[in-house]
Amino acid sequence: MDLYEYQARDLFEKYEVPVLAGIIADTPEEAKAAAEKIGGLVVVKAQVKTGGRGKAGGVKVAKTPDDAYEAAKAILGLDIKGHVVKRVMVAAGASIEKEFYFSVLLDRANRSYLSLASVEGGMEIEELAVERPEALARVEVDPIVGIDQAKALEIAKAANFDDELAPKVADVFVKLFNVYKGEDATLVEVNPLILSSDGDIIALDGKVTLDENAEFRHASHALLEDKAAADPLEAKAKENDLNYVKLDGQVGIIGNGAGLVMSTLDVVAYAGENHGGVKPANFLDIGGGASAEVMAAGLDVILGDPQVKSVFVNVFGGITACDAVAKGIVGALAELGSTASKPLVVRLDGNRVEEGRKILQDANHPLVTLAATMDEGADKAAELANA
Ligand SMILES: Nc1ncnc2c1ncn2[C@@H]1O[C@H](COP(=O)(O)OP(=O)(O)OP(=O)(O)O)[C@@H](O)[C@H]1O
Ligand SMILES: [Mg+2]
Repeated sequence: MDLYEYQARDLFEKYEVPVLAGIIADTPEEAKAAAEKIGGLVVVKAQVKTGGRGKAGGVKVAKTPDDAYEAAKAILGLDIKGHVVKRVMVAAGASIEKEFYFSVLLDRANRSYLSLASVEGGMEIEELAVERPEALARVEVDPIVGIDQAKALEIAKAANFDDELAPKVADVFVKLFNVYKGEDATLVEVNPLILSSDGDIIALDGKVTLDENAEFRHASHALLEDKAAADPLEAKAKENDLNYVKLDGQVGIIGNGAGLVMSTLDVVAYAGENHGGVKPANFLDIGGGASAEVMAAGLDVILGDPQVKSVFVNVFGGITACDAVAKGIVGALAELGSTASKPLVVRLDGNRVEEGRKILQDANHPLVTLAATMDEGADKAAELANA
């Protein structure tokens, strides 16, 4: 989960990373009040989960509270790379001497952590990495040791911080690593980290990505979720612990096991070419226990998508045998009643397949078609979606 800048700022503050005052505002009036409260020069900043806000006109300096009002008015509603600004942060203005870059992230390829740092922050770091790679230090961080004082100094030296600045920024690197570790993040990035004219090191901007697999350790992370921005179907799936991703086709897909679901998407997309170009409407992996409740929850999510015209249930019976899955489907249809109004193609195979098919045949539900193979099922579901 990516955080907004203001959320990253608040986390930084909790870990004693030096940050400036920042107050969020949803209206120009609130921005004006925030500027009055902070006092002096402020910077009004768009809160969107994408980069390059400054260049897009999403970061504006305001000298007075009335300026802050006007800045917020200009920024709210702005479309930055497809993200419409609904909220700004009014931040205390810093007097910037120099801008640096620092990040620590999960390095999947090397099964390690990686820290990036540069004395040339502010500009787009991707550009710097391409144009002048020598200006961006890349230092591997042992996940067991982390960034302690010694490692932080090594990073600062590698990034060419001078002898006076190195210990100062190193102190902040250690604190930023505490955020990374303490919150189970996969990315903590500060661009720019600045040296102020008073000689202080301050994080002026922050990007944090939290590891959703570690949510069970952090009850507070649920509060950081932007429920309003999330797709309502994805939110509903999440509430039911379903692994669901909305796509933009017409054939709803339910399967067990990520690999089977992935190949089902391929097969349906392929079959769709013969049926008006229909495509999969989603990825949904109901996992191992395809009980009636899980099946009902999955069907409920998929049928709630107005784009869905048919559903393909493709299940390979393993530990949860086909008869249990079939009972799950029958139970789910009974539970959903008239909400289940779209045709369902079911392909079962594997453990206790005959028993499973028999249960569905006996139930003889008007919306259910049985398919003998995956290809046949995909073809039938695509045909029904195109009907
Ligand atoms: N509180 C502040 N006081 C003074 N200047 C600021 C402040 N916040 C940002 N700036 C200036 O604006 C520039 C852009 O700000 P920021 O890094 O927050 O946005 P961005 O880099 O455009 O967005 P993103 O990091 O999402 O790409 C900074 O490099 C800095 O020069
Ligand atoms: Mg930035």
